[in-house]
Amino acid sequence: MKTTGALLWEPGTNSGWSVEEIEIDPPERREVMVKLAASGICHSDQHLDDGVIPLPWAPVLGGHEGAGVVTEVGPEVHDLEVGDHVVLSFLPSCGKCRMCVSGRSNMCELGAGVLAGVAPDGTHRVHARDKGVGCMSFLGTFAPYVCAPVDAVVKIDEDIPLDKAALIGCGVPTGWGSSVYGADMQLGDTVVVVGIGGVGINAVQGARHKGAKNIIAIDPVPFKQQKAREFGATHSVSNYDQAAELVQQMTNGQGADRVILTVGVMHGDLLEPAQAMTRRGGVIVMTSAAPVLQRDVQIDLFTFAMSGKRLQGTLYGSTNSRNDIPLLCELYRTGRLELDGLITRTYRLEDINQAFADMQKGLNLRGVIMYD
Ligand SMILES: NC(=O)c1ccc[n+]([C@@H]2O[C@H](COP(=O)([O-])OP(=O)(O)OC[C@H]3O[C@@H](n4cnc5c(N)ncnc54)[C@H](O)[C@@H]3O)[C@@H](O)[C@H]2O)c1
Ligand SMILES: [Zn+2]
Ligand SMILES: [Zn+2]
Repeated sequence: MKTTGALLWEPGTNSGWSVEEIEIDPPERREVMVKLAASGICHSDQHLDDGVIPLPWAPVLGGHEGAGVVTEVGPEVHDLEVGDHVVLSFLPSCGKCRMCVSGRSNMCELGAGVLAGVAPDGTHRVHARDKGVGCMSFLGTFAPYVCAPVDAVVKIDEDIPLDKAALIGCGVPTGWGSSVYGADMQLGDTVVVVGIGGVGINAVQGARHKGAKNIIAIDPVPFKQQKAREFGATHSVSNYDQAAELVQQMTNGQGADRVILTVGVMHGDLLEPAQAMTRRGGVIVMTSAAPVLQRDVQIDLFTFAMSGKRLQGTLYGSTNSRNDIPLLCELYRTGRLELDGLITRTYRLEDINQAFADMQKGLNLRGVIMYD
């Protein structure tokens, strides 16, 4: 089918998104076509444009946070039907590999291919200007239709509004899971969340779920500080020094139990202040993407080892999509997870560069592209 998509022809050069005609092939074996209701604007797509995540191929159709309705099923699709409401998961889960069967489907072997620029079978499903187009995360939600592998498609109940459900494809589980699973949070913890974007605000929600006693949000943008308090932070401040002082007072000098890093771009110098405010035996969770070639980190290694701290990386908030996407829908339905308030502004696909500019300025918890 012919439709419109937002592409990068020169990833890594800050050239912005080109909204133009694309052609999407019908679904092949174990694939479905999904008509999207909405796509979230996640910082990871910005990283394709600014080169934090370099791509050795082009063009790329961006977008990896979407939800919609199945309109067509390819051969050998037994578990989805036309009309099903689905969330697209930015990481696929095959359900068979060692990681999947041991409850770590966020690290499914298929995930290794999400930035390879081709569908799982090594071919292209999207074309533009007579070239094969690679899709972000096998998806490419910056177009009204997505031809997706079934391993990245999770069926949800029809009463969940699809524009809200779109955010459950990346930002919500990544942030919420960073607290609930990655940080292994405990009732009564004192928690610091650094960076309140679409991911960090959900780390705040996850900390609330786990019964954290104190939740301190750090973000330089006053709007983000205010939103963090609305979503359950007990305190919000603009920098590490202010947070360290609060932690000191709240914990009688012991330090925070958990510090979760969800800033837009991770740099080595953000790590030592996080470890310095973490208590003995505490956990520092790193969720943010760093520039891929970044190697420089200054850290007080003696203190790190001798105080038994843990530095925990987390992909997709260490969630299992087939368990956690329906769970997050249920938490939303029963009023225990806020999704509506995550969407600060909506955009048309044509205005996608404005949406990214607004994200960079800190104007949105999440910007969302709405389709017809
Ligand atoms: N690990 C994963 O699986 C995964 C999944 C999705 C996104 N990510 C990454 O998570 C990060 C956050 O994504 P997002 O969509 O929430 O981004 P975002 O741009 O919506 O939010 C980032 C926030 O960090 C704040 N910030 C920047 N520098 C800061 C600092 N020094 N101290 C405190 N706050 C600071 C910004 O003001 C902004 O509010 C990105 O790096 C993204 O690529 C990782
Ligand atoms: Zn994302
Ligand atoms: Zn797998």
